[in-house]
Amino acid sequence: MVFWKRLFTADPVAPPQDPQFGGEAVELFSNGSGEARLFFSTERDLDLYELEELCDAVGWARRPIRKVKKAIECSFLVVTLWEVRGKRRRLVGFARATSDHAFNATVWDVVVHPNQQSKGLGKALMEYTIRKLRSADISNITLFADPHVVDFYRRLGFVLDPEGIKGMFWYPD
Ligand SMILES: CC(C)(COP(=O)(O)OP(=O)(O)OC[C@H]1O[C@@H](n2cnc3c(N)ncnc32)[C@H](O)[C@@H]1OP(=O)(O)O)[C@@H](O)C(=O)NCCC(=O)NCCS
Repeated sequence: MVFWKRLFTADPVAPPQDPQFGGEAVELFSNGSGEARLFFSTERDLDLYELEELCDAVGWARRPIRKVKKAIECSFLVVTLWEVRGKRRRLVGFARATSDHAFNATVWDVVVHPNQQSKGLGKALMEYTIRKLRSADISNITLFADPHVVDFYRRLGFVLDPEGIKGMFWYPD
């Protein structure tokens, strides 16, 4: 297993820049030899086919690219996680949030590539997303958890059915 060294703890939202990224880029981990580094970015201009490949890798149903494009454009926050080796970068994680820009945000499409799972990256991705939303003074953060990841979110402080509140869905017939 690759050894990843955590590079930040104190102020992960500080904006050190990497020329390969637009938006804010924050270096998260580097492996022992320094050959590979991991970056978070809030850049939205990503290759949607690369995102589709990432979603394919975890077995998600395909969605029309034009709708994914619109969803990303209309999201309040988009967080991507990149593995960088030399000049090459590869998308290995993604999350986004929609929001009313004042009180509420909902997190969607949280994913880490299977080759990079179980190394703490999903947790780091969610913690970064939460920090960014909190820095925008948003206090009510919600999400819809697939049954097999409820405990993953619970460990991050998410509460199931707080005060008995139930999520409800309406679907067309
Ligand atoms: C869910 C997902 C993002 C987790 O990413 P990850 O990088 O493997 O998770 P981490 O290594 O950061 O795990 C953080 C902690 O959560 C735990 N955890 C990870 N996946 C879990 C799961 N499915 N159920 C319960 N706990 C889980 C880990 O054991 C770890 O615990 P620890 O802090 O006590 O060591 C990743 O498995 C994934 O992309 N899955 C496919 C897509 C998906 O289902 N997304 C969620 C849609 S709602």
